[in-house]
Amino acid sequence: MSIRPATPADARSIAEIYAPYVADTAISFEETPPDAAEIARRMEGAHLWLVDETDGDITGYAYATPWRSRHAYRFTVETTVYVASEQHGRGVGRRLYEELLAQLGALGFVTAVAGITLPNEQSVEFHRSLGFGDVGTFPKVGYKFDTWYDTGWMSREL
Ligand SMILES: CC(C)(COP(=O)(O)OP(=O)(O)OC[C@H]1O[C@@H](n2cnc3c(N)ncnc32)[C@H](O)[C@@H]1OP(=O)(O)O)[C@@H](O)C(=O)NCCC(=O)NCCS
Repeated sequence: MSIRPATPADARSIAEIYAPYVADTAISFEETPPDAAEIARRMEGAHLWLVDETDGDITGYAYATPWRSRHAYRFTVETTVYVASEQHGRGVGRRLYEELLAQLGALGFVTAVAGITLPNEQSVEFHRSLGFGDVGTFPKVGYKFDTWYDTGWMSREL
């Protein structure tokens, strides 16, 4: 297992990991799974994008993007993590996030924020275990599968 920067050659594996969360759940508020070319394009706009590779397979990924565009927000990032469902609970997410957060701190970013569709106890507990604290809940901000969803926001100093 190794954590390394993502390259465009990883985009297909990343798209495959992400697709079921888009198609079958409200964890992502997207409704059409992006293809590999779109993932590669998104990589270019990210501050940092890491993958976990185990025995030649990409098992998960984590990345940081600008949170908001106004200049005063430039030290704040939004972080995201997805692990292939068959790999959950094996420490992949923790490895990815620990490395992502460490590298973001070294790059000079100061605060990480994460938005989580509720309910998602797995992700809330995951973020808590990595030092994120609760900020608050935006009620009824997402509508998918004919259902309204709240998002919980968490943050952590880097
Ligand atoms: C949330 C997610 C990234 C966690 O990754 P993971 O590799 O399964 O988690 P890890 O094995 O590294 O666990 C790290 C910590 O997260 C917490 N955690 C993980 N799974 C959990 C679960 N099912 N219930 C409660 N806490 C859980 C625990 O605190 C755990 O610490 P421990 O190992 O000391 O118990 C992963 O489950 C995932 O991809 N879920 C679907 C996509 C998603 O929700 N992404 C986040 C979008 S906001």
